[in-house]
Amino acid sequence: MKKLVITGGAGFIGSHVVRRFVNQYPEYTILNLDALTYAGNLENLKDIEDKPNYQFIKADITDEKQIIEIFSEFQPDGVIHLAAESHVDRSITTPLEFVKSNVIGTVILLDAVKKIWNKNYEGKRFHHVSTDEVYGALNETGFFTEETKYNPHSPYSASKASSDHFVRAYADTYNLPVVITNCSNNYGPNHFPEKFIPLLIHNILNNKTLPVYGDGNYTRDWLYVIDHAIAIDLVFHKGKNKDNYNIGGFNEWKNIDLVHLVCKLMDKKLGRSEGESAKLITFVKDRPGHDLRYAIDASKINKELGWKPSVNFEEGLTRTIDWYMDNQDWLNHVTSGSYRKYYDEQYDLI
Ligand code: NAD
Ligand code: DAU
Repeated sequence: MKKLVITGGAGFIGSHVVRRFVNQYPEYTILNLDALTYAGNLENLKDIEDKPNYQFIKADITDEKQIIEIFSEFQPDGVIHLAAESHVDRSITTPLEFVKSNVIGTVILLDAVKKIWNKNYEGKRFHHVSTDEVYGALNETGFFTEETKYNPHSPYSASKASSDHFVRAYADTYNLPVVITNCSNNYGPNHFPEKFIPLLIHNILNNKTLPVYGDGNYTRDWLYVIDHAIAIDLVFHKGKNKDNYNIGGFNEWKNIDLVHLVCKLMDKKLGRSEGESAKLITFVKDRPGHDLRYAIDASKINKELGWKPSVNFEEGLTRTIDWYMDNQDWLNHVTSGSYRKYYDEQYDLI
C-alpha cells in the first residue's frame, strides 16, 4: 500500500495526474495537496472526488509548519510535485510570487520528506515536475536534450530552474531519492484560459479578438496533457534514481499557424464559414524576453521507458475543442471566478 502526495492536483496538469493515479492504482492512497490559488479548481476532479483512495487537503507549500504537520501525519512514500505558479506573463508582473511558490515551496517540500524519511529511502521517491523552459530558447534548429545547459530567461523559468537545482542539490547532499521531468507545452481539457490554446478557444466561442504576441513566429512543442500524465506515471515508477527525463510532443507549431488551425477547426464545429474566426486575429505587443523556440528531444524516455505520445495533434486539439464546447459551464465559472464557490461548498464536506 503506497501513500502519495500530489501537489498542485487541482490545477491543469495536476488534475490529470491525480485522476490517472486514483484510477490506475486503487491500492494507493492519493493525497491531493493544493492551495487553490486562482489556478486551482476542484471542479476539475468532480468525477473522482468520492473515490475511497482519494483525499484532498487545502495547504500552501510555502507554509513550512503546515507542510511538516501534514507530512508527519500522512507519512507519504512518494511525492509528485506539480504545485507552482505557472504562467510566464504573470511572472513578469509578480516575480516574487514565483520565487515563493516555485523555489521556497519546493525547498520546504524537500525538507519535509528529508525529515520524515529520515534516511530510510527504500521505496521512497520525490518526483519534481519541471519544464523545458529551464533550457532557455532555441533558434530555428536543434533540440533540448537532458544535457542542455540551463539558461532561463523569464522569472517563471528562472524560478523553475532554481527549483530543479535544489532538487539535485538535495539528491547530491542528502542522498534524497529524486527524479525530475522537463516537459514541453501541454494542452487539453481543464487548461486555464489565460494560456494560449484555451484562450483562443474561449475567445473564438465569444467572438473576441485573438491576441498574437509580436509577429507570431514563436514556436512551441505541444503535448496532449494525458500523455504527460502517462509519462509522469512511468518515470515515477520506473525512472532511474537521481535522473532527469525530457518529455515532448515531437509537435512544433509556430503560434500563427496554430491560431489558423484552431480557427479552421472551430469554424467547422461552429458552422461558421471558413476564415470567419481568423478575422479575429490581432497582433499585439510582444512578451518581454519572449523565447523564440522550444523543441524537446524526448528520445531518452522513449528508449529507456518506451514512452511516446499516443495522441496526434489534430485529434488532441479536436478533443480539446469538443471538451470546451461541452463544458462551457466550467469555462464560465473560471472566467467569472465563480468556481471558487464550488470549493466553499465542497470544503465543508471534507
Ligand atoms: P496550473 O497553474 O494550472 O496549476 C498549478 C496548481 O498549483 C494550482 O492548482 C494551484 O492552486 C497550485 N499551487 C500554486 N501555488 C501553490 C502553493 N504555494 N501551494 C500549494 N499549491 C499551489 O499549472 P499547470 O499548468 O498544471 O502546471 C503544473 C506543473 O507543471 C507546474 O510545476 C509547471 O511548472 C509544470 N509544467 C507545466 C507545463 C504546461 O504546459 N502547463 C509544461 C511543463 C511543466
Ligand atoms: O514550455 C512549457 C511551458 O509552457 C510551461 O512551463 C508553462 O507553465 C506554460 O504556461 C507554457 O508556457 P508558454 O509561455 O509557452 O505558454 P503560453 O500559453 O503562455 O504561450 C504559448 C505561446 O503563445 C507563447 O509563444 C506566447 C504566445 N501567446 C500567449 C498568449 C497567452 C500569444 O501569442 N498570445 C497570448 O495571448
